[in-house]
Amino acid sequence: MNKFLISAAAVMFAAGAAWAGAHGSMSDKRVDAMKSIGGSMKAIGEGNGDAVQHAQNIKMQFGDMLEKFPEGSMEYRAKANIWTDWSGFEAAMGKSNDAAAKLVTAAEGGDSSEIGNALKNLGGTCKGCHEEYRGPKPE
Ligand code: HEC
Repeated sequence: MNKFLISAAAVMFAAGAAWAGAHGSMSDKRVDAMKSIGGSMKAIGEGNGDAVQHAQNIKMQFGDMLEKFPEGSMEYRAKANIWTDWSGFEAAMGKSNDAAAKLVTAAEGGDSSEIGNALKNLGGTCKGCHEEYRGPKPE
């Protein structure tokens, strides 16, 4: 049973990316980081583990996510507009980063409805970037 109402999309993120290779490229590293974020969101949503630790993991992963997008690295789903519109991409990452910080605060506070809201808010920021800068799943 889900402890909080989280968007189905967030759970889908966590389940995705089985197709991503494991050859250790930057694309792999960021897909791993994104999956770790998705996993922590799911864990918080389901009440598994320590919500504060999971929230801190999410915040930490976003901390150096931009560095994991070197120009032109498009093995999987990254779209070229990431680099032609880098400031927009950066702003979208900033929104997730801010939302992650709020999730840490909410998790520390321990109020489940606030955690649920922060989680939903964070999920919206993922979607905002994915719609703009992430291409369709490869076959
Ligand atoms: C600023 C842009 C941006 C933000 C914010 C963002 N992502 Fe992503 N995400 C991407 C891009 C681009 C890819 C594709 C990377 C690739 O294939 O190289 C991706 C890939 C992923 C993947 C890998 C599997 C797949 O379907 O491509 C997961 C999981 C994921 N994101 C989860 C999340 C979650 C959860 C959040 C929010 C907490 C989030 N992302 C926030 C841009 C973003």
